[in-house]
Amino acid sequence: MRELSAPKGVSEYFPPRSQYFEFVRETLINAAKVSGYQLMELPVFEDTELFKRGVGESTDVVSKEMYTFEDRGGRSITLRPEGTAGVMRSVIEHNLDKLSLPIKVWYSGAFFRAERPQAGRYRQFYQVGIEAIGLNDPEIDFEVIAVADRAFKALGLKSYRLDITSLGDSKSRASHRKDLLAYLATLDLDEATRARATINPLRLFDDKRIEIQKAMAGAPLLLDYLSEESADSFARVQELLTDAGIEFRINPRMVRGLDYYTGTTFEFVSEKLGAQSGIGGGGRYDGLMSELGGNDLSGIGFGLGVDRILLACEAEGIFDSQEVKSEIELFVIPLSVAEKSYVAKLVNELRKEGVKCDMAYGDRALKGAMKSADKSGARFSIVIGGDEINSGRVALKEMKTGTSKEVRISALSDEIKAN
Ligand code: HAM
Repeated sequence: MRELSAPKGVSEYFPPRSQYFEFVRETLINAAKVSGYQLMELPVFEDTELFKRGVGESTDVVSKEMYTFEDRGGRSITLRPEGTAGVMRSVIEHNLDKLSLPIKVWYSGAFFRAERPQAGRYRQFYQVGIEAIGLNDPEIDFEVIAVADRAFKALGLKSYRLDITSLGDSKSRASHRKDLLAYLATLDLDEATRARATINPLRLFDDKRIEIQKAMAGAPLLLDYLSEESADSFARVQELLTDAGIEFRINPRMVRGLDYYTGTTFEFVSEKLGAQSGIGGGGRYDGLMSELGGNDLSGIGFGLGVDRILLACEAEGIFDSQEVKSEIELFVIPLSVAEKSYVAKLVNELRKEGVKCDMAYGDRALKGAMKSADKSGARFSIVIGGDEINSGRVALKEMKTGTSKEVRISALSDEIKAN
């Protein structure tokens, strides 16, 4: 029989490492929640058209990396490669923009891109994202960037940097586009590259080929074409970041992998990771909502790569000093097979009272069961034999110190909660 394995290039988390993954994800989510963002839980598959229109056909994400298939009703379906388009679709469909603005939502889950797998780049990966929709305000741009920065700092990350730029408003982009296209016309480009440039000429700044990179060194930069309004707004964002002590670098050549960006755009980069060092990114998207058939409202958000942030935490040794925090408070060991049923019932009762506990299963000797208690990371353990059942008293052992204290079985839950 053929051996089964996970599809190529997916990330998987199982114990003991999964606890760190969970810790990272929850810390990122918490930074969003405490800033007033509310949960949005969306489907992992959507109408293919949503991503074509939302993310853009000039992007690698749409042209090369989508998991697209026909469902049983003959509809073209795509596994979500990113979260923003889906959030927008939902906001429009459910008229959420009729409520007070901005709409502030967070999401967390799996995303799918058929990329060439390598360390930190997966075909199924995890993001925590936020979107603030409905207002175009530099204070919100600042808030969104600050939420990500706070999340990284809460994890204890130090070796990362923030790159920002502005892609301006439609006026800024139109005047830049004219000059950029004129510049590109002087270059000797192949047909496919020229076609990409027609959809989004900015994409050429991101071309990995050395000859294109060289040719683009002299290209006009959008940052020099900002309208007065865009320039003022970008200056305000920088001022707010500086006042908040959030360091950043202006990178006028930044190109995001998705086409919807306008205005403030940013990326967080870990200095401890290899080629796949982007741990999060985002920006403003002026035209996305109207492009998808909704009102002409702006929005801004980010997507943070949970997998890469976990790798960055590990590379910075963040979990080396941090003790593995077990969920389990009490581990209960039956002395022999005779006490197993009693212990199963006791553990069930204690859980009802809110004590996080587990027990030794199977017919292992006491020594083996003690090892399980150690491995569980529980703070306390007890061994229950006939004497304990008869007297109603147990020795509650603190695992770290090895000291014991006699406690009535009926008082176990109070005793553990008090400690
Ligand atoms: P993105 O830059 O394409 O933006 O992805 C955000 C983050 O997801 C990246 O910085 C990276 O950490 C992680 N990521 C992306 N692709 C992979 C992969 N193949 N394997 C592992 N991690 C990956 C977006 O997705 C936008 N929707 C963000 C956004 C929200 N912009 C505005 N609102």
